[in-house]
Amino acid sequence: MKKQLIFIACDTPNRKKVKEIIQKTQNSNLNFGYKFGLEFLNSKNGRKFVANLKNIITFGDYKLADIPNTCASTIKAVKDLKFNYLTIHISSGIEAMKAAKKVSGKTKLIGVSILTSLNNKSLKEIGFDKNIKKIITNQAKLAAKAKLDAIVCSPHEIKIVKKFFKKEIITPGIRLHGDLKGDQKRVTTPKQAFKDGATAIVIGRSLVKGNIKKNIQKLVKDLK
Ligand code: C5P
Repeated sequence: MKKQLIFIACDTPNRKKVKEIIQKTQNSNLNFGYKFGLEFLNSKNGRKFVANLKNIITFGDYKLADIPNTCASTIKAVKDLKFNYLTIHISSGIEAMKAAKKVSGKTKLIGVSILTSLNNKSLKEIGFDKNIKKIITNQAKLAAKAKLDAIVCSPHEIKIVKKFFKKEIITPGIRLHGDLKGDQKRVTTPKQAFKDGATAIVIGRSLVKGNIKKNIQKLVKDLK
């Protein structure tokens, strides 16, 4: 059986810290990938560091949310980084997703649905008058129509997404037992996320804060 894929969110502008994260996680028995967000990719040495990575699964979390031409041009501009995965907000619309998919080549294009830091109250504040479940249902259908390769959603929405989207489902909003939610609102444990049907999870602070090796042991225990 293919091992469960676990993306580590390398959320820091510090190249040394990212090096440490990769070194301390690479030889474990778990199947790790590494997610680089805007913080690292826009840091002084971040882009160059990612360009030199070899033999690891990489995820460029650009969370593109723009017009079709800009989304497609951006993907072309980072082609040299050879990401295995790259994100675009589904709320960019079908045309932007199609334009992005047209140029993404071997890089798997992931549609980001409603952020895991938002809840129904936050959506109302933005001006959305439908609840999370309804919006996610629409977004899953739209991502399927645009032939995206994966969806990022909260673990709480995996079951709905699965009904309409048949490819990879990646869930952030993961906490090891006892860890604080922080700014995340819709969270669960790694084991529960995989049980509900996630094909991959994203885990940041629960794994990289404090003692990484000890956190991995905690993760292994959770997954049993
Ligand atoms: O530290 P924590 O595990 O909460 O980090 C979650 C990671 O997943 C962050 O890098 C965040 O940008 C990303 N993410 C998210 N919610 C989404 C999409 C991505 O938390 N909907």
